[in-house]
Amino acid sequence: MAYLELNNIYKIYGEGDGATEVLSDINLSIEEGEFVAIVGFTGSGKTTLVNLINGLLKPTSGEILFKGEPIIDTSHERGVIFQNYSLLPWLTVGQNIYMAVKEAFPNESKRVLQQRVKDYVAMVSLSPAINKRPKELSGGMRQRVAVARALAMNPEMIIMDEPLGALDALTRGNLQDEILNIWSKDKRTALLITNDVDEGIYMADRIIPLKPGPNATLGPEFKIDIERPRDKTALNDNPNYKKTRNAIIEYLMDIGEARKSVSQTEYILPEISPKSFVA
Ligand SMILES: Nc1ncnc2c1ncn2[C@@H]1O[C@H](COP(=O)(O)OP(=O)(O)OP(=O)(O)O)[C@@H](O)[C@H]1O
Ligand SMILES: [Mg+2]
Repeated sequence: MAYLELNNIYKIYGEGDGATEVLSDINLSIEEGEFVAIVGFTGSGKTTLVNLINGLLKPTSGEILFKGEPIIDTSHERGVIFQNYSLLPWLTVGQNIYMAVKEAFPNESKRVLQQRVKDYVAMVSLSPAINKRPKELSGGMRQRVAVARALAMNPEMIIMDEPLGALDALTRGNLQDEILNIWSKDKRTALLITNDVDEGIYMADRIIPLKPGPNATLGPEFKIDIERPRDKTALNDNPNYKKTRNAIIEYLMDIGEARKSVSQTEYILPEISPKSFVA
């Protein structure tokens, strides 16, 4: 039994003439402890996929099983780093995270929870901003609060919807390593949505492309056969890294071109410059 299983998932938004089939025939199986990355085109349905797995949305057809049971609602076992951060504007950084950990550990003492909040705020280097409200923060700072909030809840499965997109290369690299640390410590399961092929190769065991929409479906998987812990600076000289990176980029460019010729829409390719390796 797979840890997470999506069988023949279709998602249609709207009805009648206004209906759009966003996701088509999505089949995905993730084993416990795996780190899977999905790299997709902009607007292709990545967040829709995340919300289906999180339990915020229901598929139009098909089934999603988490540890063998259908997903019917959100759960603390699956922690999501949302693309839009979704912080409560009237609460400070510390209070936003406190509320989440209180929900995840209802029987823990206030002192333990407050320490946990402090630790995770420090992990994302936001200790000086712990009493600020979201509107006083930059986009990148808000993104880091969202990362801290999701990880502080200690989820079994970490689901990340382009979690580091608004960050500079150095901060992004540090948080990639923090996420990998947390994932590997207790062998959690992770699903990363990213538009950065290099980020996917650095972090994941497998990369699966999501084709451009509408009717987006998953492409063939690319296994990342590079030993862990991975060394960013050495990756550029790793023949496996080069081979895998070229194969993924070639695949993405081919499907982007193929879609363009039928739809006239310009598809924006995922980020393919090695910006996450400036460190
Ligand atoms: N609630 C909704 N109702 C109707 N259409 C929606 C809804 N949510 C998303 N869509 C449409 O579904 C498609 C996929 O949206 P989604 O947000 O899943 O894409 P994405 O790949 O996450 O995009 P991005 O790269 O911008 O993050 C888009 O065309 C969007 O307009
Ligand atoms: Mg999205």
